[in-house]
Amino acid sequence: MLKKWNISQLTGLATSVVISLLLFACESKSETSKFEPLAPDDFEKGLSELGERLFFDKKLSVDGSIACAECHIPALVFTDGKPVSRGIHGRKGKRNSPTLFNAANQDKFMWDGGVKTLELQALVPLQDTNEMGHMVSDLIPELEQVPYYDSMARALYNRSFDPFVLTRALGQYQRTLYREASRYDQWKRGEIVDDRLEKGNDLFINQLNCASCHTPPTFANNSIVNTGRYIHYEDPGRYRITGKVSDSGAFKVPTLRNVEMTAPYMHDGAMKNLDTVIDHYARGGVDHPNKDERIVPFELTKQERADLIYFLHSLSDEQYKNHWEKVFRTIQ
Ligand code: HEC
Ligand code: HEC
Repeated sequence: MLKKWNISQLTGLATSVVISLLLFACESKSETSKFEPLAPDDFEKGLSELGERLFFDKKLSVDGSIACAECHIPALVFTDGKPVSRGIHGRKGKRNSPTLFNAANQDKFMWDGGVKTLELQALVPLQDTNEMGHMVSDLIPELEQVPYYDSMARALYNRSFDPFVLTRALGQYQRTLYREASRYDQWKRGEIVDDRLEKGNDLFINQLNCASCHTPPTFANNSIVNTGRYIHYEDPGRYRITGKVSDSGAFKVPTLRNVEMTAPYMHDGAMKNLDTVIDHYARGGVDHPNKDERIVPFELTKQERADLIYFLHSLSDEQYKNHWEKVFRTIQ
């Protein structure tokens, strides 16, 4: 069973009950000065709530201007809607912000798969001068001053707030961001009948072989391939990590869950909409010595193209979509 999330964890509002329980547990412990580990469920909830607070905290950037959530916006399924992200002082990055929705099920991170764990990954944007630009050695003393962070670190691990707690908490929070609650999932479980979805599914799985890379249920497969986007790639992708010519232009297969809400697409955000993406695949990409052999030209009727897009839209988490639509309406 894959990891599930709960909608309240998306709201950015910590569920204060657990926090107060933890703080209470912490206070009563300090009386006896004996640390008693929390029950596994309370531990996971507490760690994830701490991670959530950190994720939305602008103190993490060197000038207090941006949080992780600036580039991974919950309302955009943790992407930022821009071709490439902008960090502190408006500095432009080189890549598109990927959704964090499937973080729990991945064994490598970044578009080039260059980072092995979520815990290590957190240190990259923190220290990158184009992103948050904050040396961890300077950041930790600042966060340690925040009473909530310090008491949570003590309640969870019986230690003061440090890089270990910071990375574990951010990792745990991101692992909660996965659910199987789309129309596709309802259809797959036999709860609804939808002929159009079925036709789109047939195209996606059987006729066009999209699922050989975007494999259900995550619609990704942890592999890194060249899809023939360019003859000369400005960003060499996986080659940057391995130095192997055969890895040039290879990028990690992204999840297509919620793809309706994560435009613009691809590692460089160069494709504005799903029509453009389908055009690319239908052409069979361009010639590149590393292009994967599954990227081959195909033709779709107007109706088939519409069914394929309908299918891709059916991968949106319904509750999630409704939740954020409501939030937008409240703001307007
Ligand atoms: C300035 C914008 C920006 C900020 C701030 C930022 N990120 Fe990112 N994030 C990105 C971009 C762009 C990528 C893709 C980078 C790459 O592939 O080289 C990324 C990649 C990731 C990934 C890898 C996802 C995957 O599927 O491979 C994770 C996880 C992540 N960020 C978490 C975080 C966390 C946690 C923070 C806060 C500590 C954070 N990000 C802050 C822009 C940002
Ligand atoms: C050989 C593996 C492979 C196959 C087959 C494949 N894809 Fe992809 N797909 C990828 C990779 C890798 C990327 C990212 C490429 C990049 O960033 O340059 C991608 C990106 C995408 C994106 C953009 C997602 C985002 O968040 O940016 C969509 C949409 C997509 N593919 C849909 C499809 C459809 C529809 C098919 C079938 C017609 C298909 N893919 C077939 C590997 C594949």
